[in-house]
Amino acid sequence: MFNRVVVSAVPIAVVLVLGSVLWQYDGMPDSDNPCTLTENNAEGPYYLEGSPLKEKIGEFLEGQRLVVSGNILDVDCNPIPGAIIDVWQTDSVGKYHFEDFVLRGKVHADDNGKYVIDTIFPGKYSEGGQFRPAHIHLKVSSLEGPALTTQLYFEGDEHHDWLTKSSLILETSESDGIVYSEFDFVIVP
Ligand SMILES: [Fe+2]
Repeated sequence: MFNRVVVSAVPIAVVLVLGSVLWQYDGMPDSDNPCTLTENNAEGPYYLEGSPLKEKIGEFLEGQRLVVSGNILDVDCNPIPGAIIDVWQTDSVGKYHFEDFVLRGKVHADDNGKYVIDTIFPGKYSEGGQFRPAHIHLKVSSLEGPALTTQLYFEGDEHHDWLTKSSLILETSESDGIVYSEFDFVIVP
């Protein structure tokens, strides 16, 4: 009886170990992996294709300067050099601009997958009688892979809505009049 239990337990253990290895190999996110895929979020109706590369997204506009920075990684936490973030957002009073790519632009990650979005704090706008919280729209991609479309929000915003996902809410700090935040994107390269 004892031997029968041992004999049947061995293949079960092998299956469990193999299953665990395959689960990891497949790149599926798990709770112990710090590099789970960044959640997507609605694109919304205001995206324009063809925005240029920019050093600063909100270069000529008044508003609270905001600097969001971090890394662009794959699910194995490897940086993705040269990845691109296509950013679009409202101005400080909640208005999108549709000419001259105002508050629209692409940012390149550097050779180590690090990026900086230097912009102004987005304002809120009313849509269908309800306010949307302050947010930044982004499409994040490697040079070859699919784009992750998502939005970033800000802590303490009373207008967080049904679209707002907790994993996409930025913590912020302020120094010398500039609001800073850090966020790492994890995408399929
Ligand atoms: Fe929006």
